[in-house]
Amino acid sequence: MTSVFYRGVNASYPKASHSEGMYIYDEDGKEYLDMSGGAAVSCVGHQHPHVIKALCDQIKSMSFAHTAFFSNTPQEQLANLLAAKFGEAGAKVYFTSGGTEANETALKMAWQYWRAKGLPSKQKIISRVHSYHGNTYGALSISGNLPRRRIMGEILMDWPRIDACYSYRNRQDDETEEEYGLRAANSLEDAILHEGADNIAAFIAEPVVGASLGVVPAAPGYFKRIREICDAHNILLIADEIMCGTGRTGTFFAHEQEDILPDIVTLAKGIAGGYQPLAATITRAYIHEEFVTSGKGFDHGHTYVGHASACAAGLAVVSVIDENNLLQNVQKQGDYIHNSLLSAFGDHPHIGDIRGRGLFRGIEIVADKETKIPFPDERQITKRLKQATMKHGLICYPGGGSFQDNLGSSILLAPPFIAQQTHVDQLVDKLRAMFTDVFND
Ligand SMILES: Cc1ncc(COP(=O)(O)O)c(C=O)c1O
Repeated sequence: MTSVFYRGVNASYPKASHSEGMYIYDEDGKEYLDMSGGAAVSCVGHQHPHVIKALCDQIKSMSFAHTAFFSNTPQEQLANLLAAKFGEAGAKVYFTSGGTEANETALKMAWQYWRAKGLPSKQKIISRVHSYHGNTYGALSISGNLPRRRIMGEILMDWPRIDACYSYRNRQDDETEEEYGLRAANSLEDAILHEGADNIAAFIAEPVVGASLGVVPAAPGYFKRIREICDAHNILLIADEIMCGTGRTGTFFAHEQEDILPDIVTLAKGIAGGYQPLAATITRAYIHEEFVTSGKGFDHGHTYVGHASACAAGLAVVSVIDENNLLQNVQKQGDYIHNSLLSAFGDHPHIGDIRGRGLFRGIEIVADKETKIPFPDERQITKRLKQATMKHGLICYPGGGSFQDNLGSSILLAPPFIAQQTHVDQLVDKLRAMFTDVFND
């Protein structure tokens, strides 16, 4: 008998008892190879001694002082580090506890910025059909992910959404990747013209789509055109890098590879590597400056904003990434994982696409490779993949909903940045066994 209100009310879960490096162990001693860092969280692996020491030292000296009264050294240092990586003098960082809060903070920044500028009608947020930005009322309202928003029905705000840039399914045969990227980006301009730019505060997108599509980077040129459109119509560009940021794609920010600078970027998950709940909303200098010079300030806050031990964990995680050149390993093992998946499953009749960047990789499952048609709902492929991963001692992240609302299955891989070839080889063996279980009955 348990008193826990579990995530899955009918589910039962093994109890995780300890973890080390790339592995988690349950109470019965079963070993799980962690190839998704939970949900793209554990970026420096489990039980990293440097992070544990930094966290313990912070807790021993000052565990909590409310940031309405005090600042603290880890918050100051981590903000400096992130602002420097963002690369714009005067950028500011607002720390919260999770990805949803970071995006809610970004939305409020956008709304309050336009109000401070005397443009209060700029309220709507345009997002994308395949997207997930969080689970509170505001963040879920701007998330297109139908399986996740369906249960909330009409209660959610229903703002405009455009298609994500999803070349595997949406590029036409006679289009190059670049032509498709341009066409997909131009649909933002159509939506803005339809709604009226005076009513739009911001456009939000994941530079590499995570759970909603199974790791989909944009076509070349897509985000450059998006940036141009936002500038032309006075609309803020928010990059949700909660999954794809903090080095996961091989550069610290995923948007670096698009050669753009967003107005606001959100980070979470990897930023404190799972050692503490932490998220960051990074804003360009001119937005913060507007709050200061207009005298309007920024009206927001949570009890745990800028939490000292959470920021200490974040500082230690980012230092481990930097000092050990882990992004080099992200690129190297990213290539290895991609090539290994291609050689093992490139010809598999049910693997439609293998894609991604760095140590952020996706596998799209189809019933028919030629037509790209997914399995019918009755086959419950996503659910069965989830069951098979645990059975085979593998943590990865199967997801659904990439095709016509609730069909389509994919597997998201986001291993810790310390992954080595042996772990990738183990992954391939485990996936092979899982696919045999799931597809052959
Ligand atoms: C892209 C993206 N944004 C926002 C969130 C919400 O973050 P959290 O679950 O930490 O609230 C997630 C979570 O999976 C995410 O993947």
